Amino acid sequence: MRQHKRSFLKTAIAVALAGSASLAFAQGAPFKIGLILPMTGQQATTGRQIEAAAKLWMAQNGDTVAGRKIELVVKDDTSLPDQTRRLAQELVVNDKVDVLAGFGITPSALAVAPIATQSKTPEVVMAAATSSITEASPYVVRTSFTLPQVSVAIADWAPKNGIKSVVTLVTDYGPGIDAEKYFSERFILNGGKVMDKLRVPLRNPDFAPFLQKVRDLKPDALFVFVPSGAGAAVMKQFGERGMDKAGIRLIATGDVTDDDQLNDMGDVALGVVTSHHYSAAHPSVANRKFVEAFEKANKGMRPNFMAVGGYDGMRVIYEALKKTGGKGGGDALLAAMKGQIFESPRGPAYIDAQTRDIVQNVYLRKVEKKDGKLWNVEFDVIKDVKDPGKSK
Ligand code: DHB
Repeated sequence: MRQHKRSFLKTAIAVALAGSASLAFAQGAPFKIGLILPMTGQQATTGRQIEAAAKLWMAQNGDTVAGRKIELVVKDDTSLPDQTRRLAQELVVNDKVDVLAGFGITPSALAVAPIATQSKTPEVVMAAATSSITEASPYVVRTSFTLPQVSVAIADWAPKNGIKSVVTLVTDYGPGIDAEKYFSERFILNGGKVMDKLRVPLRNPDFAPFLQKVRDLKPDALFVFVPSGAGAAVMKQFGERGMDKAGIRLIATGDVTDDDQLNDMGDVALGVVTSHHYSAAHPSVANRKFVEAFEKANKGMRPNFMAVGGYDGMRVIYEALKKTGGKGGGDALLAAMKGQIFESPRGPAYIDAQTRDIVQNVYLRKVEKKDGKLWNVEFDVIKDVKDPGKSK
């Protein structure tokens, strides 16, 4: 049955796509981007940020590229991978989209990889950040980041700053397991001690029992990864359980001090050091303009790292379509995406032509209050970081 379904899908996709790119080009048909995002449910902030960023990109850069009108088709997968797969299939077969994009969480990005491969449709991953995603299909291009990429920097910083023992606490799926592995290995290499490794479920996590355990173990610091949207709950319970008062420091990837929520976290977040590829406080002209325009277009909402992944994803798609002279076509678009170099609001970045993953700066940041608001203020940078997950 499964086999049947697969070959039916293959045939349907092949029939739907035969010559469709050049025909669409000749007829001046719109260029369609299928943007699949979690617009509702636990990951809804990711969807809201990326959709807003994609729309801002289009408002700033026009909705026509090389003579083709750009059509954004937004679909809500509620972050359930079965939905993501079904929507991707519909978008390819019925809507005949030229590019699939979005993907709020790793299981959603992975669910679409076979469809991208079979239909030769570029899959632009704007959010999901498990290292292995780019290896699931040669049609995946990533504009977000990877957890190995950002976890190593904080594991180098911590032992130089009085942290000799840690407990790790991560969400129990792809990116959390990557963060745990790459943080721990590096921290141990640097002479540190990992006292315990704790994992919380992705759906409806309750951090309380885990934090209690950390309190009992009394490490110098707790290292945390949770996906975008869950950071505020961790921070709140960290404060309520008096962890900071018990002398346990909090270090994390920047997913925890997420710019989408940071300003509502309160003073417990002050002084928390994280490593990540984007801060809304990044001091460049390009970023200042981006943040200002984003806030203006979205009732003051501050862009987070998801927004930047979406904004740069649109840039990569626009540039690729331009390079093909408006013609498109999966393989030509993919070739034109590889190796793109650009200045992102996050800083300089490029798409590695070999791995199709993004290479970018990783920053160490500390939460500080400025003009009454909380920001991730960058104080150090590791330049041009490739995903360390690719070399293993
Ligand atoms: C993933 C999701 C997130 O919200 C995040 O901050 C990092 C990684 C993911 O599922 O890959």
